[in-house]
Amino acid sequence: MANTGNNDAFVAFERVQKSYDGETLVVKDLNLSLPKGEFLTMLGPSGSGKTTCLMMLAGFETATHGEIKLDGISINNIPPHKRGIGMVFQNYALFPHMTIAENLSFPLEVRKIGKSDREAKVKRALEMVEMGAFGGRRPAQLSGGQQQRVALARALVFEPELVLMDEPLGALDKQLREKMQFEITHLAHELGITTVYVTHDQTEALTMSDRVAVFNDGRIQQLAPPDELYESPQNSFVAQFIGENNTLAGTVQEIKDGLALVKLDNGDVIDATPVNVEKAGDRTLISIRPERVEFNRDRLSPDAHTLKAEVAEFIYMGDIFRTRLKVAGRDDFIIKTRNAPDQRRLKPGEMIEIGWLAEDCRALDAT
Ligand SMILES: Nc1ncnc2c1ncn2[C@@H]1O[C@H](COP(=O)(O)OP(=O)(O)OP(=O)(O)O)[C@@H](O)[C@H]1O
Ligand SMILES: [Mg+2]
Repeated sequence: MANTGNNDAFVAFERVQKSYDGETLVVKDLNLSLPKGEFLTMLGPSGSGKTTCLMMLAGFETATHGEIKLDGISINNIPPHKRGIGMVFQNYALFPHMTIAENLSFPLEVRKIGKSDREAKVKRALEMVEMGAFGGRRPAQLSGGQQQRVALARALVFEPELVLMDEPLGALDKQLREKMQFEITHLAHELGITTVYVTHDQTEALTMSDRVAVFNDGRIQQLAPPDELYESPQNSFVAQFIGENNTLAGTVQEIKDGLALVKLDNGDVIDATPVNVEKAGDRTLISIRPERVEFNRDRLSPDAHTLKAEVAEFIYMGDIFRTRLKVAGRDDFIIKTRNAPDQRRLKPGEMIEIGWLAEDCRALDAT
């Protein structure tokens, strides 16, 4: 069963569509529900509809069709400031004329919290993001990363049950990004906050999330925990969007006992697990991760189909070896092997035989 319309949902999109111009749907029939406390990431290429979904949930955009529910209640007609949602958007800046403490106090004043209570909450929120000493400064007197932490503290200070974040770390350098990724997930889990996070950085999505919704063209292509997304992509888009992946085009010859026999376009035949192909004659892209390709014949089953390959390039990367092969008419087939004492370094020009376990190779749609 699809994970939709379930009663435990804290946030639910039900058959939501969105069009800005009355013609093109930029969000198409979105069904998505999150239980309380989940950290869910919307991941996808530019223009796939991620921000639009977040804006509808926040209340800054209205859905053209369908319903959005919070804790079982439709919020379609509730204005943004009454939804009680914390937000960290890239362009949702701190107020420049206010001090850091005043910035944090503001959402509490709006909610009519008394002065002494406000001061205690502001202090705690700043300490939470290790900015306790900076309450008296103005935003311009902080670094980009410090401002981002204050923005996070401001989103959390009124103890919202739901926090939305749209590319909150986009402007930060790699090191600070990684630190903040850890801090955000840590805080969210510790405080039991439900989070919808938007990014187009797949590493960020995989490392931070309980589940990831992969968006393309206004639709969720797959919704799954990170390991499942990487290991069991349900279509070619997801296989190619998440992680590195080799693809070879071919035609299904036969599907039998959960195994697809695929004739590649160069005439070679290989085994794959059928995923979204149905019958003999279907065009397919077979998909295999670089770390799952085997070139040691002894480690393959005796009846496994293999392909002849020529080593085109060998790159030493420290912890791993990355080797580019010419296979089945392509010259961009990558294999990755761990740098282990018994691991052979392949030489350009060398001819080898490659293969894999059928369960590691997936026959996906050819579109
Ligand atoms: N206010 C708007 N008016 C008209 N069209 C819009 C508006 N906002 C977004 N769009 C269009 O809707 C589609 C989805 O945009 P959206 O901002 O949701 O994408 P996104 O997935 O967040 O992309 P990015 O990763 O670039 O931020 C795009 O084609 C975009 O041009
Ligand atoms: Mg966006």
